[in-house]
Amino acid sequence: ETKPGSVQSSLTFRETGHEMTPTLEVPAGYKAQVLLKWGEPLAAAGPAFDPLQQSAEKQQQQFGYNNDFIGFLPLPLGSSNAKHGLLVVNHEYTVPQLMWPGSPDDVSLNKAQTDTDIVAHGLSVVEIEWRDGQWHQRKDSAYTRRITPLTPMQISGPAAGSSRLKTAISQDGVHTLGTYGNCAGGVTPWGTVLTGEENIDMMFGGDFSQSPEAASLKRFGMSATPQKSWSAHYPRWDMSAQPNESFHMGWIVEIDPYDPRSVPKKRTALGRFKHEGANVYINSDGRVVAYMGDDQKFEYLYKFVSAKTYQADNRAANLQLLDEGTLYCARFAADGTVAWLPLVFGCGPLTVANGFRSQADVVIDVRKAADLLGATPMDRPEDVEVNPVNGAVYVMLTKNADRTAAQRSPANPRAQNKAGQIVEMTAPKGDHSAPVFAWDMFLLAGRRDDPSTSYHPATGKNSWLACPDNCAFDRKGRIWITSDGAEDFGIAEGIWAADVSGASRALMKRFLRAPLGSEICGPFFTPDDQYLFCSVQHPADGSSFEQPSTRWPDFDAKLPPRPAVIVISRTDGQSVGT
Ligand code: FEO
Ligand code: CA
Ligand code: CA
Ligand code: CA
Repeated sequence: ETKPGSVQSSLTFRETGHEMTPTLEVPAGYKAQVLLKWGEPLAAAGPAFDPLQQSAEKQQQQFGYNNDFIGFLPLPLGSSNAKHGLLVVNHEYTVPQLMWPGSPDDVSLNKAQTDTDIVAHGLSVVEIEWRDGQWHQRKDSAYTRRITPLTPMQISGPAAGSSRLKTAISQDGVHTLGTYGNCAGGVTPWGTVLTGEENIDMMFGGDFSQSPEAASLKRFGMSATPQKSWSAHYPRWDMSAQPNESFHMGWIVEIDPYDPRSVPKKRTALGRFKHEGANVYINSDGRVVAYMGDDQKFEYLYKFVSAKTYQADNRAANLQLLDEGTLYCARFAADGTVAWLPLVFGCGPLTVANGFRSQADVVIDVRKAADLLGATPMDRPEDVEVNPVNGAVYVMLTKNADRTAAQRSPANPRAQNKAGQIVEMTAPKGDHSAPVFAWDMFLLAGRRDDPSTSYHPATGKNSWLACPDNCAFDRKGRIWITSDGAEDFGIAEGIWAADVSGASRALMKRFLRAPLGSEICGPFFTPDDQYLFCSVQHPADGSSFEQPSTRWPDFDAKLPPRPAVIVISRTDGQSVGT
């Protein structure tokens, strides 16, 4: 019998505790530097953070709220410099209860608060460098940029210019404003960032039942009852006035952080849904493949295969790659195969008779198209990433408590699935454009003593996890997993790591313990694995401004808890995980 400790992981760190505490813990011999915090001015002359004196004008110049995805892009462009680069960070959403005195709820913010709330969303681009044993943000950098829900952007790909995208803010259906709900993302091989617009329905409200788009809005999950204050103050988010505005949202947005004046592009060829993120892989034939999850219960897994090929010496051409190609949804079978079904106008059921007049309609209503093709409803697909060492694709399926016994399927095998699973997919002969992959269950997560889990028998008593959300791979191909829901099981959120092959395949070890109420997002390694960037999102979630459950990271009675980016390294200079 294999007992805990009898098989060793290649990961050498000593595990952290799993109890819920107000502080963050990394293993002995590691340190965590707090690098960027909500409200910090991004330029030297920027406005100082004062939670009692907030304004939109200040927030526009400060680090936003709820950092999620992180991408580290070396400077100069094209290098693998691990000590100097750009950090691109998503600000997914806000928690007004922890941001403002009196702990207002989301829908009750007044106009001035709403204006501040709006620009606390989006992304930050900062320049950072390692100097004198620490990471520093360069506050004089020309790359510094705040991208918000008000930043001019362009819609590109098959939906650009569609009559369905013409709104009060966009006469041409091409120009638009802003991005929000930015959850995870990816860094492309040509040095751009892809950011996923996820829970964009929160911002909208208003009765759309009389709109010709009512069925489409309903299928996306739009509700007349808003979850935020935005629609009360601006008709842009009022669906009774602007039913088409939400079609500008729910895309993958490509941002070029190396050009601070570049206009972000909404890549509609990649489909419109609640995008967790997108990760690009260069296929053996040079075409690029983007893997994507639609993070909602019973939604689907997707991949996009570009028409043209990546050219290492032609960045301008690479910047167009995601506008032309084929989008697919996934159908998992019990025989260990997964079929990729093309979402192409005119193919199969994607016809005028079924309400599709063009490829624009297919990508705008891609959930409906995938319904018709018979894609497999999944347990909330979050991050989907390719392991650069073995070429396999890992799908984080975070949870789905609504799945009934009758709705179980091979890749989603548990009813009332509160703990999630990780599916591993393998492209035949490494061809990621192939129509059929193989798949295998990598991990069924949950309590260590839950018989429906699939832990390696040598997994420690306190090494289990629940609700996988983001992942990353180190240069040895080991998987690093973050959670979003472990607290529901009475343990701290955090980071776990495991080998993916050999006797210790899927043998989990807990690497980090997150502070109360927070989840860890966006794990991202520097090119040499010396540093691991992570987001600590919504610390003290579920408590109040006046009485937060933790004041991480400042632990100052005058300051609220603050979402922050940390960077983890070993004190002896060896690589993380070693
Ligand atoms: Fe924002 Fe899919 O988690
Ligand atoms: Ca989150
Ligand atoms: Ca996520
Ligand atoms: Ca999540």
